[in-house]
Amino acid sequence: MQPTNPNPDGMSLLKKLRDELVGLDIEVPTLSGERRRYVSLDNAASTPTFRPIMEKVNEFLGYYANVHRGTGFKSQLSSWAYDEAREVVARFVKADPAHQTVIFTRNTTESMNKLARLYPFRPGHVVLTTTMEHHSNDLPWRRRTRVVYVGMRDDGSLDLDDYRRKLAEYRGRIDLVAVTGASNVSGWLNPAHLLARLAHESGARFVLDAAQLAAHRPIDMKPADDPEHIDFLALSAHKMYAPFGAGALVVERKPLLDVEPDQVGGGMVDVVSLDGAWWRGLPEREEAGTPDIVGVVALAAAIRMLERIGWDAIVEHEQELTRYMLKKLATIPGVRIYGQSDPAGVSDRLGAISFNLADLHHALVAAVLSYEGGIAVRCGCFCAHPYMLCLLKVPPDEAEHVRKEIIAHDRSRIPGAVRASVGIYNDESDIDALCNCLERIAAGSYSGQYTMCKETGNYMPVGADCFDFEHHFDLAPRLPE
Ligand code: ALA
Repeated sequence: MQPTNPNPDGMSLLKKLRDELVGLDIEVPTLSGERRRYVSLDNAASTPTFRPIMEKVNEFLGYYANVHRGTGFKSQLSSWAYDEAREVVARFVKADPAHQTVIFTRNTTESMNKLARLYPFRPGHVVLTTTMEHHSNDLPWRRRTRVVYVGMRDDGSLDLDDYRRKLAEYRGRIDLVAVTGASNVSGWLNPAHLLARLAHESGARFVLDAAQLAAHRPIDMKPADDPEHIDFLALSAHKMYAPFGAGALVVERKPLLDVEPDQVGGGMVDVVSLDGAWWRGLPEREEAGTPDIVGVVALAAAIRMLERIGWDAIVEHEQELTRYMLKKLATIPGVRIYGQSDPAGVSDRLGAISFNLADLHHALVAAVLSYEGGIAVRCGCFCAHPYMLCLLKVPPDEAEHVRKEIIAHDRSRIPGAVRASVGIYNDESDIDALCNCLERIAAGSYSGQYTMCKETGNYMPVGADCFDFEHHFDLAPRLPE
């Protein structure tokens, strides 16, 4: 999906936005006793937010009231803002208003579970997905129907030949094809429109998991009569600089009109008698109970911010950072990157880069980065166990052995990698901090002694308790004196 909205001042806006990052000035403790600037490279998990979004949320809180219920001015304004946010999301992904609508949820996992619960699967039909998916685009389907998996190439990218083969094999018997727009582990981008066209030719509807994609590349669901259109899409606000609890599921209305609502209760009924209830139309019938109104407003504000910056600047900046990180990682002895490691290939991937360092345990590397460098990454299997095992080429018998150990509460041999992932506010100094620390770890010149907790699989420094959280934050609010 190519950038479509050139904005000449996007790049300078991006540079200024770094100073608007909430928490940029917070220094964190490290093992040496020194406080360090927090280097945030875990954006694929959740992004921090920006002051303009926080200000918008605070401004809205002054008007906050329940939606679609009250008659007061604030309730009406809140309803208007909530409905307007639905339009903002629909336009952001270029949904087709004649055929599609936006249902607000909490996150992509909830969106996928909802779609899986609602979809009228036909007996004997399957869902086609891939082995590179996050668990949220795999487990919900398994609960409802038979799932068939498309495999990977050696480099962890989707095997298009296998995709075509499986479509041909199950042609006419596939209810949904559900694929991620970009891997949360390797960053590989998938050719969503090509996959959608092929899925439609096989008689299936196409679901795009846009959790990783939405903050990094433009999305175009395309009109329903376009063979490349996307029928269903899920995204999470907490990965889009709006960590206030909202998500969205964009749905094609038609297949969901005659199914029973996922949840029943307040806000989703037209009328209720003691022996019956009549549901409202979509999307209201799928938003039972009071929704996350503040989270939805924050999501809309974040989208408006991304649109104002423009995709050209966002894509260019993130590709530059990804190229820089790949080049620097390649100079560190023992670094092994999973997926596309060629700095010239950044158009094929996002800036979520998973790697291992020589034979060091991924959790040890991540612990040293945090305790000694103040650098935030994620390690492990990234909620994508089958994919991670495939990337690491773990033999099936070893995988089975480790699975048994994990079930027995021993995670010490859990396979995995370290992942560093960029957002729009990162700059080269963040990558330098990461790579300098990795160089020290590679040379064995980190200062702490670490021990692993078998139950969690995490490493902790021995004899040090430098993370005194209560000293930094407590849950009790300030009360008037
Ligand atoms: N899905 C998120 C990740 O990849 C949480 O880290």
